[in-house]
Amino acid sequence: MRVIVEKLQAEHVRLGRLVGLLNLQSCQRTDATAPNIALLVDVLCYLTRFADLAHHVIEDRMVEKLLAKKALAVELGREIETQHQVLIRDGRDLLRDLESAVRGENMSQQLVDSRVRLYAERLRHNMVIEELTLFPAAEQNLSSAEWHEIESSGAYAQPDPLFDATVDERFAELYRVITAEASAAGVHEPFAQDV
Ligand SMILES: [Fe+2]
Repeated sequence: MRVIVEKLQAEHVRLGRLVGLLNLQSCQRTDATAPNIALLVDVLCYLTRFADLAHHVIEDRMVEKLLAKKALAVELGREIETQHQVLIRDGRDLLRDLESAVRGENMSQQLVDSRVRLYAERLRHNMVIEELTLFPAAEQNLSSAEWHEIESSGAYAQPDPLFDATVDERFAELYRVITAEASAAGVHEPFAQDV
């Protein structure tokens, strides 16, 4: 069912924008209490709420179905699942430490910034691997019944709190920043609505 892969690919484009934002914000920060640290917290909060609980979960289900029918190399499948586990662990740890920084607690800005950039790079790398291996294998090998099972899962039905029609108030500022960057870059994807 091509529509599911198209949805995941569209989410990759959006996640790619957040990867860019993570890199930009961590580079621009001059001290641990700079205002834009709140934006980093928002990005990590979104990623741990949506990418970890919906996007990666759907891909893990695709991996398991492909492995079960030997339509994906075991090494590749396990690598993608491990990448997701590392992203989930690091995302939560980073979110916790960034929230500490917002509260003004003592921490090394340099260390946090390098971890933010490493996290962003891991997410970018994970998406490239999936687009080169998982998505084509899934399109070629999963049956209609298997796609239907994936579509019926709770993860697939979970709304996107940043890019869906109704933007969660929690992410209003992040949404404003992303739409401003997109229009400055000449990106014309229809965004949900003005917040
Ligand atoms: Fe993905």
